[in-house]
Amino acid sequence: MGCGVGACVVCSCMTVRNGKEFYSRVCKDGPVFKAEEVKFNG
Ligand code: FES
Repeated sequence: MGCGVGACVVCSCMTVRNGKEFYSRVCKDGPVFKAEEVKFNG
C-alpha cells in the first residue's frame, strides 16, 4: 500500500505536458489528469 502523501512514488505514472515526459504522482499530482496528458502505453 502506498503512502498517499507523495513520499513513496509507488503510484507514479508517465505523463506528457508541453512535449516533455515526466512521472506524476497520482496521489499528490492527481488523482484526476487530462486524458491527453497520460501516457497509456509505456
Ligand atoms: S502513494 Fe506514495 S507517492 Fe503516491
